Amino acid sequence: MSDIAGLIQTVEREQVAALERIALSTKVAELEEAEIAAIGRKAPMSALKRELGGLSEEDRRTLGRLLNDARLTIEAALDGRRGQLQAREEEAALQHDSADITLPPRLRAPGHPHPISIVIDRIVDVFVGMGYRVAEGPEVETDFYSFEALNMPADHPARSGFDTMYLSEGVALRPHTSPVQVRAMMEQSPPIYVVVPGRCYRRDSFDASHSPVFHQVEGLAVDRGISFADLKGTLAEFARALFGPEERVRFRPSYFPFTEPSAEIDVSCPTCHGAGCASCGWSGWLEIMGAGMVHPNELRAVGYDPQDVSGFAFGMGVERVAMVAYGIKDIRQFFENDMRFLAGFAG
Ligand code: DAH
Repeated sequence: MSDIAGLIQTVEREQVAALERIALSTKVAELEEAEIAAIGRKAPMSALKRELGGLSEEDRRTLGRLLNDARLTIEAALDGRRGQLQAREEEAALQHDSADITLPPRLRAPGHPHPISIVIDRIVDVFVGMGYRVAEGPEVETDFYSFEALNMPADHPARSGFDTMYLSEGVALRPHTSPVQVRAMMEQSPPIYVVVPGRCYRRDSFDASHSPVFHQVEGLAVDRGISFADLKGTLAEFARALFGPEERVRFRPSYFPFTEPSAEIDVSCPTCHGAGCASCGWSGWLEIMGAGMVHPNELRAVGYDPQDVSGFAFGMGVERVAMVAYGIKDIRQFFENDMRFLAGFAG
């Protein structure tokens, strides 16, 4: 009888110890250790269970029930505590991973094209819409393409007007995009309809209206029967498309060695539509490009017969066009990378 009493005590002690250990567990992992210690294969209660067979019928029933009840009690405590600890651990994980959605976002300011690129694209789009193709040429150009083939032989006085930056004898940073006319004509045969956007260089000091680096868009149309009327119609259509349906173009007689006749082209001021205002110096007109009929000597220089084909050409300053279009007074703003200026051109 004392034997069974001792065993009962052992079970009760084990149960109390197990419940205490369970209650004191602070992590799911600790709880698992407590479970193994209390009801695992090597636990004292498991050993007792294996000894049941050696007991009397009555003792076996008493102790068996006790062990069973203890196990159920311990399992219930384990389940309860496990639930608590899991909830607590999940909460801690959530706390750790949480984000403060009231903080202002760290957005990266999206970039956008430079105003000069925007204007080049708009100009080119107008001509592409009329069926022109885009051509390009090198910024380091030879004397032949920049001058010689454009009807400016070595001693021609018009060369000095181009303020060219030479790199070596006969090689220079191109002072205009017109050399690409020559390249386009030598690469293909008429009909040719091309526009040539590109960067140009001149020995000019940087001031409100000059930049030693600037951009032009050149245009060239060579075909059978091209006339001055085609040039006028094309440029009038261009002015309407770029500056608005109300604007007109004005042709003033001029001189370029590579065109005959030659003209300076003005567009009616987009601010006052020709009435005269401060942005056009009260004249109502703003100069945007040079143009003319391709000189027969240029056609001959590329191997064309001026009796057979004719053409017109034009060259506009992109900065000038941009200044007219946006009412900008100082060309330097395009090159200073001042975000307060550039941000005004965001899409
Ligand atoms: N290349 C000239 C310049 O830079 C502009 C020009 C004038 C281009 C008449 C042309 C043209 O194609 O026909 O001043």
